[in-house]
Amino acid sequence: MDVIARIEQALDRAMVGLDSPGAPPLLGSAMRYAVFPGGARIRPKLLLAVARACGDDDPEAAEAAAASIELLHCASLVHDDLPCFDDAGTRRGKPTVHRAYGEPLAVLCGDALIVMAFEALARGASANPIRLASLLVTVSQAVGMPGGIVAGQSWECEPAVDLTEYHRAKTGVLFAAATMAGAIAAGHDGTPWRTLGARLGEAFQVADDLHDVASKAEDIGKPVGRDAALGRCSAVRELGLAGALARLDRLVAAAMDSIPLAQAKPS
Ligand code: IPE
Ligand code: IPE
Ligand code: MG
Ligand code: MG
Repeated sequence: MDVIARIEQALDRAMVGLDSPGAPPLLGSAMRYAVFPGGARIRPKLLLAVARACGDDDPEAAEAAAASIELLHCASLVHDDLPCFDDAGTRRGKPTVHRAYGEPLAVLCGDALIVMAFEALARGASANPIRLASLLVTVSQAVGMPGGIVAGQSWECEPAVDLTEYHRAKTGVLFAAATMAGAIAAGHDGTPWRTLGARLGEAFQVADDLHDVASKAEDIGKPVGRDAALGRCSAVRELGLAGALARLDRLVAAAMDSIPLAQAKPS
């Protein structure tokens, strides 16, 4: 089965309970709307690529981890777009969840996707409890305090922000969790794969900052110019266009240089 099909089917499996009798239909509909159709699915693709490099001996665990990371990413986008954060009207070329369903359901949609991510992981990776424990810690650290997405987004409420800390927490750590979880799901140590994901994630956020000033909204499916309008710390604001491009090149090179050449023995 190809990688895209594995990811979409794993997401479908994670969301199957939404149709249970008695479940509130609008919230279920908002959750599907936030997840399907997807964007680039870059984080789960990265996770499955690392799992493959490590032997992928428990494909169900790798797929559950991939679905879990993508659900957390989708939840972060729903909350990021809310009026109290970036106040964005479009995402992936369609109205944002709060524009389509209202703010209360958008808040609940993000919350429910976060919880669903951990349920999907626990269900799909239960065959090997030691790996599951490590996956849970890795994924939790990527979304919570002190250094996960929640921490990263909260830098926007602080009086002083460091660009590197902000980018690492809001975007880099979920990419790092993806590469590490790919290895862990296949029975390997995740640590040697952390830098690949972390640097790719930082590079991805620099590229997103560049898109915010240099792309057209119709091409990227979301508003542009938000960083300047909201006074956000961004790679372009801190480094200028040329400086941001140079940082992007450096981060991608650092990511490539970090790829483990020899695999550790499975744990
Ligand atoms: C957008 O992420 C948010 C950032 C971290 C820059 P993606 O560009 O991966 O969003 P989708 O999933 O493809 O829409
Ligand atoms: C991306 O934030 C990080 C998260 C959603 C956690 P941005 O606000 O920079 O991303 P876009 O540009 O809205 O996708
Ligand atoms: Mg934001
Ligand atoms: Mg945003």
